[in-house]
Amino acid sequence: LYGERAGLVVDGYVRRNAFARLQLAPGRDDPYPIYEQIRAHGPFLATPQGNLTTADHAICKEVLRSRRFGVQPEGQEPPADFDLSFLDRNPPDHTRLRRLVAPAFSPRRMTDFRAAVEKTVGGLLDDVDGQGTFDLVPALASPLPIAMITDLLGIPDADHATFTRYGMALGSALSGLRSLRHAQEVMTAGRDLDLMFDQLFELRRREPRDDLITALVAAEGEQVRPDEMAPLCALLLIAGFETTVNLIGNAVNALLDHPDQWSLLVADPNLAGAAVQETLRYDPPVHRTARASWDDVEIAGHAVRRGQWINVLIGGANRDPAVFRDPHTFDLTRTDGADHLAFSSGIHHCVGRPLAELEATVALRALAERMPGLRRAGAVRRRNATLIRGPLSLPVRVG
Ligand code: HEM
Repeated sequence: LYGERAGLVVDGYVRRNAFARLQLAPGRDDPYPIYEQIRAHGPFLATPQGNLTTADHAICKEVLRSRRFGVQPEGQEPPADFDLSFLDRNPPDHTRLRRLVAPAFSPRRMTDFRAAVEKTVGGLLDDVDGQGTFDLVPALASPLPIAMITDLLGIPDADHATFTRYGMALGSALSGLRSLRHAQEVMTAGRDLDLMFDQLFELRRREPRDDLITALVAAEGEQVRPDEMAPLCALLLIAGFETTVNLIGNAVNALLDHPDQWSLLVADPNLAGAAVQETLRYDPPVHRTARASWDDVEIAGHAVRRGQWINVLIGGANRDPAVFRDPHTFDLTRTDGADHLAFSSGIHHCVGRPLAELEATVALRALAERMPGLRRAGAVRRRNATLIRGPLSLPVRVG
């Protein structure tokens, strides 16, 4: 509670997270039985704060796609000290800002980007080749997304280390604030990051390039207000840092837990895309989001009041037996997995999805091709978090 209170003034992610005070801590290692209990309870479970929680796939999807729900209560603007990026804003601001960054993740852009991703993955695996045993998270899962998003934004090579430090400090808030000191560190990192972005905007006004930051400064004053620019870049940086790392980590973890599935992938590395999708369903990196009701509405026979928040349990929806056959089975060959909600749904669905999928697919394919005998070399250590799920450490051996 202390952490969440502090989080209210730190940044938007934490603030929205504060609405989801569902006590999942006992299920941190395996939250799925808790989601089952919540779904067995009925369409909604009331929280002590007067909000609602659901792990029902149909309801989650309806709430995410409905225009009667928003990421802020209707007519409410985020407070002035709040994260001004578009994740936490309703239309029309959301529409205006999302349009600005969406082209950076277009299919054509991603096709152009593939060679760079492959080169980065190749280099990272070269570094650990011959080591026998290594930790997959610092070796591959973490540096790959960081390298790719800094590249896409257009952060100069010389500044990579500094941006990475600030971005990681800020992103650590996603896993919850541990103490007031941690909250202060997060706030300081946020301010320093803003200053660095301001300098970068200045640089790209003078020396335009073909990158996202140049596109942003070109739209300044028209499509984007000056005070919205740094938060937008920070959102992309953190989303790029803190999510794909867990997709790669969760995928390798699930594959090592299921040697038959790993063998399938080794026999046919073209299954890498399927392995990514099945991981997104079976063990997604982001476990929940929330929406505020803009009306008094009825859903599944349950009255939802205007202003009430609904916690959408993505990790629970992805194991709903009404949609997925044998939902607790990790199966690369399943044909009913496409409707997972790992990237949310509706107007806020993840804009970075094509990049995340590209990175994870290239990484899994390279692992299967280069290290077919991959095995566990120690216990997985997980993040201490219930919103973001993934390994902090995943020791592996090249068999
Ligand atoms: C939104 C998940 C990777 C940028 C979202 C949302 C989810 C999500 C669940 C929607 C939250 C909501 O509906 O309230 C993921 C996962 C990823 C991933 C699981 C990796 C596996 C990325 C990457 C980027 C990115 C690589 C960018 C570099 C964003 C942005 C939004 C978003 C900007 C806000 C979209 C909006 O509000 O319209 N992501 N994400 N994400 N994601 Fe991702």
